[in-house]
Amino acid sequence: MLTRRNFIKLCMSATLAASLSESILPVLRQAQAEKQAEKPPVIWLELGSCTGNSISLQNAVDPGLDEFLSQAIDLKYHWLLNTVQGQDAVDILLDTVHKEAGRFWLVIEGAVMTAANGRVNYVFSNQDKMVTGLQAIEEFAAKAKYVLAVGSCAAFGGPSAAYPNPGGAVGVEKVVRDKPVINIPGCPANSDWITGTMSHLMLYGIPELDSLHRPKLFYGRTIHQLCQRRQLFEDGIFASFPGEAGCLYKVGCKGPTTYADCPLRQWNNHISWPVKAGAPCIGCTSPKFPDSSMPFYEHFPDISTPSTRVSVKKISAAFVALGVGVVGTHLAAGVFSRRIHQHFLDGTKPSDPTPPENLAEVKQELDDLIRRQNALLSETKQLETVAAKEKKSWARRVADFWRTEDKDGK
Ligand code: SF4
Ligand code: F3S
Repeated sequence: MLTRRNFIKLCMSATLAASLSESILPVLRQAQAEKQAEKPPVIWLELGSCTGNSISLQNAVDPGLDEFLSQAIDLKYHWLLNTVQGQDAVDILLDTVHKEAGRFWLVIEGAVMTAANGRVNYVFSNQDKMVTGLQAIEEFAAKAKYVLAVGSCAAFGGPSAAYPNPGGAVGVEKVVRDKPVINIPGCPANSDWITGTMSHLMLYGIPELDSLHRPKLFYGRTIHQLCQRRQLFEDGIFASFPGEAGCLYKVGCKGPTTYADCPLRQWNNHISWPVKAGAPCIGCTSPKFPDSSMPFYEHFPDISTPSTRVSVKKISAAFVALGVGVVGTHLAAGVFSRRIHQHFLDGTKPSDPTPPENLAEVKQELDDLIRRQNALLSETKQLETVAAKEKKSWARRVADFWRTEDKDGK
């Protein structure tokens, strides 16, 4: 059987050209034949979501999804893929929960909707009794062997929990507290992240997880670390519009703070990924996505505002010349670290010293920038106060709405 070390190497390979399941399926088949791996019964439940992760799973090509679902796992219930529907499908689902307790895996796609005691999200009906996602997960998770939260909504709330979140969407972990939840975030999750994590579970048990319970083999490095445009970042060559050739940092790329292997793995049968297609990474695997990433195509405040621009060269020159850390941003640190290192640590002169032609002017520009940033910060604080009030009023209105519904509906 493939050793765990080689399995991890395979998953993290820089030369991935095809679906991970293509390489793994024969290993799984052999392991199952030799009774070294189980073919687990799997229940896939969709709660508050757009079905994007189920659709993404269909990018598991060569072999296709069918082969993975039929040969690697024993898919008992998935509302889109069931061969029977209605009560027959629900009977299989409940049978699995009761007869395979402690053996079956529960895969959750979508956020858990908690408003009105979960009644904003019914997931199936049993003998004409509607069952909410919240009820299902509370009952099923306790009996499952593993709980997997697939996609950012299931892992962290994701777009379903975006402000003002009237449905009370939360990630699975907030509801399932008595056992570890394996998070496979992404909007949607890449099919390899799903099949790869499942394969690791079958062959070797729970993979090493990071502090947000994501498998490190897929989420252990940042997009920025793996990005093909990284050299452009280092060289300070930036696109000023999505689609342009430079590094997309200044048009909002969240790659430096986003953990996932999209640059290696790629999407749509391994042919492209956002930055390759000219779009900045919007941080879809991050815990507070999308609220924390918006506006998607705007660079977060550091050295550039819509009306003020200080060129990279000037900043670098000022940075070195002034010797102060007023612009202590990731960008400044990344672009200029080599020069600063050379200047201060080696004691040699920078090879490209670019001394400011007019230091006073550059300093003035920096001072203006800092003033503008302070003004923006105070404006942000005011907006936050307004937003907090609005949020309270929303929460009140939503609570009133559900109180009325409770009275009328029951
Ligand atoms: Fe790539 Fe974005 Fe990093 Fe630029 S900022 S190198 S586009 S990940
Ligand atoms: Fe998501 Fe960024 Fe990858 S937006 S798909 S983590 S490149």
